[in-house]
Amino acid sequence: MSSTTKTTTPIPLSSKRAGRFDPKAKTACIRTFGCQMNVHDSDRIRRMIQDAGYAEVQRYEDADLVILNTCYVRENAVDRVKGHLGELNRLRREGRVKRVALTGCIGAAEESAALRQTYEIDLVLGTHNTYELAEFVGLPTMQETYTPELPGTEGGHNAFVTIMTGCNYQCSYCIVPTVRGRMVCRPMESVIGEVENLVAGGTGYITLLGQTVDAWRHEGKRFCDLLEAVSESAPRVWFTTSHPSNMEDRTLNAIGERDTIVKRLHLPVQSGSDRMLKVMHRGYKAEKYRRKIEVFREAAPDGTLSTDIIVGHPGETEEDHEQTLRLVEDCAFDSAYIFKFSPRRGTEAASLPETVPDAVVQRRFLEVLRQVEQNAFTRNQRKVGGEEEIYIRHGSTEDGKAIGETWSGHAVHVNTDAAPGTYVKARIESAGPHVLYAGETGTRA
Ligand code: 5AD
Ligand code: SF4
Repeated sequence: MSSTTKTTTPIPLSSKRAGRFDPKAKTACIRTFGCQMNVHDSDRIRRMIQDAGYAEVQRYEDADLVILNTCYVRENAVDRVKGHLGELNRLRREGRVKRVALTGCIGAAEESAALRQTYEIDLVLGTHNTYELAEFVGLPTMQETYTPELPGTEGGHNAFVTIMTGCNYQCSYCIVPTVRGRMVCRPMESVIGEVENLVAGGTGYITLLGQTVDAWRHEGKRFCDLLEAVSESAPRVWFTTSHPSNMEDRTLNAIGERDTIVKRLHLPVQSGSDRMLKVMHRGYKAEKYRRKIEVFREAAPDGTLSTDIIVGHPGETEEDHEQTLRLVEDCAFDSAYIFKFSPRRGTEAASLPETVPDAVVQRRFLEVLRQVEQNAFTRNQRKVGGEEEIYIRHGSTEDGKAIGETWSGHAVHVNTDAAPGTYVKARIESAGPHVLYAGETGTRA
């Protein structure tokens, strides 16, 4: 939590078919940068390369084909990808990697043409034409299958299900509407069908995905209808990301009332200042956000709340920053992703004149971080001593600790050899600002 980047680690192998390295087989390595949408898109890419007869490998030097599935949201994400492209160029010159493909949000941005030239990338695809990868890897040309209709990899203990793509907002700083396009909602029957298939195949945890999932609408149905239906079909459900303007009290109440929904809400606020929220075109005031949080806390007092905050957006004054600190204190977030403003070419904020000096941005970043961590630590302390049912997300490593999640959405380190996808019961023995620590497991739930 509380960093300038979100999920940036390479994704683990999630497919049954991803085999060990066989020097004679065609091999491909997929690296994922960015958000959960990208992780999910990589699952689709993985299916394609497997259908084309590639074995998935983890290291660039073992791969005939390397696919970088990328993020464009902040400049540091682009810098990281450039580092990887440089290394791949070297490996290709040494004959160790044959082909390189760049997909995802950088691929959809104008800058990709220059990158393609500089790094001699073989194939560049955006977010709307990923299906063209099929031809590149030797599959028959597909019609556009890269729509929310195309399910991800089956067989995992947890799975992402895309319910909508794109975004209809135009936040001043955000490149997403440019690279992902306008909102397209997937029909309810199609979502439920996929969920039912996944659950029948053994998946125990479904995460509904989209840029603004709570904006989902289809044939008179709203997001809460969809969430309720999914919560009846799946044993464990979560959703991300939401927009405060779309978040309905009904949904917040459903989180509290429904046993199968994890009591964890990610609701990006971005700023606590009404002036900045207006400049950012967020479409709500801080007071409205506070009220939503009150409803959530009432519906799920034990639940966890996380948010996204941008510090140093052009025009942000000391008074604006103070208001963000106040909102952080009032909402007592359990965690937050704090981002330093990063100008993205083509967004409104990139050409705003009143930039905030780096040193000021850094100070504000640390002040928000400190405030978030204090609150999170205090709230986590309240969990100490209680017994929790814990869903195991990642099995134990050499130190015997597995990583799990409580129904309240807290991350827990727990001493158990239980397999991912199973539940254990354990007592919380201590807590830090980011994670709870449980002792030996008692019973398997
Ligand atoms: N600079 C900094 N942070 C950004 N985000 C999106 N665009 C930018 C940008 N240009 C953050 C927002 C969003 C999260 C996914 O990334 O907080 O909610
Ligand atoms: Fe970007 Fe705003 Fe859409 Fe979120 S709601 S994806 S921040 S434009």
